[in-house]
Amino acid sequence: MCGIVAYIGKQAAYPVILKGLKRLEYRGYDSSGIALFGETVNTFKKKGRVAELEAWDEEIISTATVGIGHTRWATHGEPSDANAHPHTSNSGRLTLVHNGIIENYGSLKQELVQKGYTFKSETDTEVLVNFIEDIQINNNSSLEEAMRIALKRVVGAYVIIVMEEGFPNRLIAARKGSPLVIGVGEGEHFLASDASPIIEYTKKVIYVNDYELAIISPDEIILKNLGNEPITPYIQQLDMELAQIEKGGFDHFMLKEIFDQPGSLTDCLRGRLDMENLTLTLAGVEEHMSVFSQAKRIIIVACGTSWHAGLVAEYMIETLCRIPVEVEYASEFRYRNPVVGEGDVLIAISQSGETADTLVAIEKAKEAGAFIFGVVNAVGSSIARLSHSGAYTHAGPEIGVASTKAFTAQLTVLAMMAIKIGREKKTITEAEYNRYLAELALIPEKVKAVLETHESIKEVAKHYADARDFLFLGRGYNFPVALEGALKLKEISYIHAEGYPAAEMKHGPIALVDENLPVLFIATKDAYYEKIVSNIQEIKARKGMVIAVISEGDTQIRGMADHVMVVPEVDELLAPLISVIPTQILSYYIGVLRGLDVDKPRNLAKSVTVE
Ligand code: M6R
Repeated sequence: MCGIVAYIGKQAAYPVILKGLKRLEYRGYDSSGIALFGETVNTFKKKGRVAELEAWDEEIISTATVGIGHTRWATHGEPSDANAHPHTSNSGRLTLVHNGIIENYGSLKQELVQKGYTFKSETDTEVLVNFIEDIQINNNSSLEEAMRIALKRVVGAYVIIVMEEGFPNRLIAARKGSPLVIGVGEGEHFLASDASPIIEYTKKVIYVNDYELAIISPDEIILKNLGNEPITPYIQQLDMELAQIEKGGFDHFMLKEIFDQPGSLTDCLRGRLDMENLTLTLAGVEEHMSVFSQAKRIIIVACGTSWHAGLVAEYMIETLCRIPVEVEYASEFRYRNPVVGEGDVLIAISQSGETADTLVAIEKAKEAGAFIFGVVNAVGSSIARLSHSGAYTHAGPEIGVASTKAFTAQLTVLAMMAIKIGREKKTITEAEYNRYLAELALIPEKVKAVLETHESIKEVAKHYADARDFLFLGRGYNFPVALEGALKLKEISYIHAEGYPAAEMKHGPIALVDENLPVLFIATKDAYYEKIVSNIQEIKARKGMVIAVISEGDTQIRGMADHVMVVPEVDELLAPLISVIPTQILSYYIGVLRGLDVDKPRNLAKSVTVE
């Protein structure tokens, strides 16, 4: 949540920061602001989208070569000009942007108010900038020293970047819990919440770690810990192209990312699935195979869509590996004193690799002695670095707030893990192993086939764009797809939608069914097919409208449903990879038909870096 960008160097800072903030808008988009160093520090901030900052017409925007910017997802205080970042200290000496939450801001504010400080905003950030200033004044210390002292007293998560009057050639940044990447250029440096604002200028980056401070000038980066000890920066090469973070001719990132899936799944399988030799290579699993094969149980923690991927993995791993699996919301796991320790494997699933609750859940399980395996999309992210081992999903950057290609790539990695561990444990036969590999190899083509039906799904969307509620039902491997379909629809279209296991329908949700309720069945050919047919009949008997995702050649459900969305047949283990695609497309078109901003739905942010 919240995106920050900063620049220090030789070119005009404003266009670099403005473009960078637009790339980071997915992290929050209710207000934004930029501060630039001219003769003095000048700040412009506005409620609304980053585009509002284009109204800044002062001369400084063409001359300043140092600046900081922020796009906000409100935590403390409503979206407004006053609450937008950057925030300035009472003396006007310090200007700061912040991503995260200062949990003890209330008590710090009280202290400052007693000392006579005043506040223009309701934010925790304005408290922090004044807290640093107060320490600087009282201790007569440098900004760097004051930040070190202040950050030791601060409870919460942050990335901050601070500018100080009188020091036009220096930015100081610090991180704990929220992400920060520094792009290393020639005589210039770029700072951002992720690499997307940096990629077109340099591919050399440094990922700043928790409790580190970066003192940055055009020619130098000094990294230190909060104990003032120097740290040697580790410069990495970014494996990302600019084209990957642009829309490429699609109307929305979400649609582009849905259509990316044959390619992203191919990337996910590349170098792992070898059909010539019938091998599956997952280095992160192989290096720790005994940990997996001897695991007492596997705990999966995640949030949102990633949690749904975890539910599918529960079915996969229990079926193929006969290891008990528990799937937990990271936000519940971290607070409920779970029984976890040595012998447990904790799989953390996250697209961003920065989700605050998932991060803390990992820390907790790690401290207790569990082995941590990360299934992460964002390379170099906090979760990737905190894990003992892991497998990247290689879906490429996902910009649309709704997770689409990240989900299918997560499922692919998790399926590969289950197949690999199952073979090692001999809980699947060689014939099954070979069959699963053959099925996996066909997935990108089958996804492509579903995408080719998008016009007919658009027609289905037209019938339901005005619905008030929706019910999604599925069984077995397709039950988590029902949950995911409902989540996608509600976040993109603001239609109330619920997902249920189809058999649960009779325990309550059936009371909702009437001629106005669309019920979407994930009804592909699998072991539960006949049961699902009965459930559809039960809905039809109550005049509910039925939409069904069905397998090619299925005439029975086609004859019963009001509308169908057809997908190729696939082994039930991998069915979610295919059956989720029509629900993504349907949600997209319903959102568009309702005139909504599907890439940036209200109140949401792509990366939930606060709890
Ligand atoms: O980056 P993560 O996978 O950890 O994010 C988890 C959820 O915030 C995310 O999946 C969210 O539910 C998406 N908006 C769903 O489309």
